[in-house]
Amino acid sequence: MKISQGFIEELKYRNKIDDVISSYVNLKRAGSNKVGLCPFHSERTPSFTVFTNTETFKCFGCGAGGDVITFIMRQENLEYISAVEFLAKRAGLEMPEDTEHKSEMVKRSRMFDMNREAARFFNKMLYDPCAKQAQEYIAKRRLPASAVKRFGLGYAPKSFDALRKHMHSLGYRDDELREAFLCGKSERTGNYFDYFRGRLIFPIIDNFGNVIAFGGRATDDESKPKYLNTSDTPVFKKSRNLFALNFARSACEEYLILCEGYMDVIAVNIAGFPNAVATLGTALTSEQARIMAKYTKKVVISYDSDDAGQAAAKRAIPLLTEAGLEVSVLKMQDAKDPDEYIKKFGAAKFRELIEGSRGKFDFLCDGVLKKHDINVPDEKVKAAHEICELIAAIHSSVERSVYIAKSAERLSLDEKSLRSDVERIRRKLGREEDSKQMRKIISDASGYGDRVNREAVGNTKAARAEETIIGLIMLRPELLVKIKKGEYELCADDFKTSFGRKVFEAVEACEDKVDIGVLGAQFSVDEIARITDMQRKRADLAKNDETVLSDSIRALKEEKNNAASGDELADALKIIQAKKKKQ
Ligand code: CTP
Ligand code: MN
Repeated sequence: MKISQGFIEELKYRNKIDDVISSYVNLKRAGSNKVGLCPFHSERTPSFTVFTNTETFKCFGCGAGGDVITFIMRQENLEYISAVEFLAKRAGLEMPEDTEHKSEMVKRSRMFDMNREAARFFNKMLYDPCAKQAQEYIAKRRLPASAVKRFGLGYAPKSFDALRKHMHSLGYRDDELREAFLCGKSERTGNYFDYFRGRLIFPIIDNFGNVIAFGGRATDDESKPKYLNTSDTPVFKKSRNLFALNFARSACEEYLILCEGYMDVIAVNIAGFPNAVATLGTALTSEQARIMAKYTKKVVISYDSDDAGQAAAKRAIPLLTEAGLEVSVLKMQDAKDPDEYIKKFGAAKFRELIEGSRGKFDFLCDGVLKKHDINVPDEKVKAAHEICELIAAIHSSVERSVYIAKSAERLSLDEKSLRSDVERIRRKLGREEDSKQMRKIISDASGYGDRVNREAVGNTKAARAEETIIGLIMLRPELLVKIKKGEYELCADDFKTSFGRKVFEAVEACEDKVDIGVLGAQFSVDEIARITDMQRKRADLAKNDETVLSDSIRALKEEKNNAASGDELADALKIIQAKKKKQ
């Protein structure tokens, strides 16, 4: 799936990194660079830096980094090839006629077509006599025809080959159907069979209107599993998609309603809220939180009222907050979920519920007070302590004051004593933060916790030499040419860590200079961030001549012959001691 260096150069020339990033991040000039608030983690002071001279970016807070393609991969949640396509479209460039790439695109677009045909088939079957049970179920759940139409619901017949036969007639093959999770294959007999059978079908549609997956509900309350969902496919990642976002994204300027299930989203829509989404049978992920943050400022969590739902709400709060979203939580009584609530009490009452939703502090506080009976002194002390911990974690001192006053009232305690407890906890948190930072320095220095290059542990010297060599080659393209001509005795086998070796191989395969835009096809966004760093770190140093290269090659060859040794750790410890002294 290799795209030519020439095309990538053209692509980047027409998509200047600061120009592209400016449409997502408010950038301010800082010397020759530009800085802004990182779109990939929540921060108050800018650590996100765009280097216009090298056309790269780096967040010194969360470590994200790379070039304009990596940025779009992260920001738009796209695979490499789709990010390239996105930027090509932005600049009005035709994608190159590359056979390998074309075949990948053909496969994806065939899968979209296949899913669309399947959705059509399921929808048609809903009106077939065989769908009696599904129709009865729809009536029982009081789903109006308008909702069935809007969400494109369907029915998968109780048959092992109804869909399969239909898809065969359209020219699709069993292996394709299986890859799209429309069919399964028996390990025992090797036979293919329809994956969804006797189920009410909920198509999952992306923001471009493509059908990317399906959820299927049993048409009774006994069959197991209650829901069956498409697993990840080349066009679908459940951790990166949300049910009904295709509708909600244009109706959520103020807020999004986050539900647990398909049925809740549909009921909430019927009640007059098109701004509802649900995760797809899994807990909320940080990717989904970031996606929501692209469309809205606030999320109202409307999970089930049972303990599981409330616990899930508690887990969702930090993810949403981290993505920069304001969060509130619905307080639903006498109904297990929004669907049941709306059926019981009506749309108007649900609107009141939304308007009266608690801020996340009140929600967490309610949770504490539900656990402890504050008429019992011991329990009251525990509750007060837990609430002080919640308040201590709040950044804004104004907010802390407000909550201290509020909590003092709820607990009928003295405001002053609460305040001093909160301050004590904050001091302790501050110390813990310091030691956390210290631990991070230690693990960075020793190579522990290096998720990109795990072999850097115990191979710090070799890893350092490798990074120097690669950084230099990226910085000075003429060195790549010399290495390729054989002017240096250096080959991939000289590299000691497999990550270093893999990067060198990719670098060596470049024509006359290294463009991370080309490497993007073979490396993850985290790996690209690291490779970008190798160049940036080198560029920050004054001495980058050929003696540095030859010294590093020599050092690497020496290290290559050494087994990983305890001395390495001793070296790391020395670095830590030095850093400790400096602090
Ligand atoms: N879910 C799933 N697999 C299951 C059960 C649930 O994927 N075996 C997912 C579905 O996306 C479902 C959501 O979790 O919509 C919430 O589950 P639940 O509350 O059990 O279902 P409801 O949406 O309330 O469905 P219903 O009202 O039809 O019972
Ligand atoms: Mn439910």
